[in-house]
Amino acid sequence: MTRHVLEVDDLAPLELTTVLDLAERADPPQVLAGRGMALLFEKPSLRTRNATEMAVIQLGGHPVSLRAGEVDMGGREPASDVARALSRYHAAIGARVFGHATLQDMVAAASVPVVNLLSDRSHPCQALADLLTIRRHFGRLAGLQVAYVGDFNNVARSLGLAAGLSDMAIRYACPDGYGPGEDDLDPVRALGTTVTCTTDPAEAAAGADVVYTDVWTSMGAEDEAERRRRAFEGFTVDDGLMARAGENAVFLHCLPAHRGEEVTAAVVDGPRSLVWDQAENRMHAVRGLLLFLLADTVST
Ligand code: CP
Ligand code: NVA
Repeated sequence: MTRHVLEVDDLAPLELTTVLDLAERADPPQVLAGRGMALLFEKPSLRTRNATEMAVIQLGGHPVSLRAGEVDMGGREPASDVARALSRYHAAIGARVFGHATLQDMVAAASVPVVNLLSDRSHPCQALADLLTIRRHFGRLAGLQVAYVGDFNNVARSLGLAAGLSDMAIRYACPDGYGPGEDDLDPVRALGTTVTCTTDPAEAAAGADVVYTDVWTSMGAEDEAERRRRAFEGFTVDDGLMARAGENAVFLHCLPAHRGEEVTAAVVDGPRSLVWDQAENRMHAVRGLLLFLLADTVST
């Protein structure tokens, strides 16, 4: 059966652990030898493109990255036809899209695994790297407390599900109007974890093991930037907020970071920040995911 990963909970808890274990393999089997992976980008990317291209190469494969204008998915031809054609050349397809529905159209037509490289709804490959970073640092996941401060966006949604799948508690602190709805929280609760939501960053950060934030304005919402800057006043992760977290708390950010907005330079560049390990772990995590998705597609 062809498996697709559009959200982190497309993996069961044990599968998630397997992906993280595979990410740690120093000498990975060359499951992509003589094969390729197509990487489509409707939006800019630094980490995701480089991490995924290098992961493909580390598995013996060849990445083909395509920018929006080169393909014009939905204009020159529908996303479903793009997925059909790419399935004939490649062992897997990755796509970063504006609308999550584009990925669903691709899944419906693809005959190889489709991996979400970020949509307006979710960022599962980021969440896998976040888990890997936390596990590498603390030596475990279960029982830890994660505080997410800021906009309930794609990164926040995937992080919550990843926490739920890993038995970590997640506390969101978001301004009114920018937080999760019950329909966002219910799937996390259903995984059996504790999930709370407040408008007070200090309350969410209290005693947390991990403090996480992301930009206030995601790609595609740039015309809201000024309104959001006002709405998110008081939600900057600074030394004062980090002081409320646990004694050994770490800071995470998917990057790119806007110093002086969602995080101060002192925190993102400070001793508790793991953001560069986290960025590196994008490569290890997606390599683990590709190993998991492609291991049984290698012909012998
Ligand atoms: N964190 C992340 O997805 O970074 P890019 O947008 O640079 O790929
Ligand atoms: N929430 C951000 C994440 C970037 C990696 C965005 O969608 O722009």
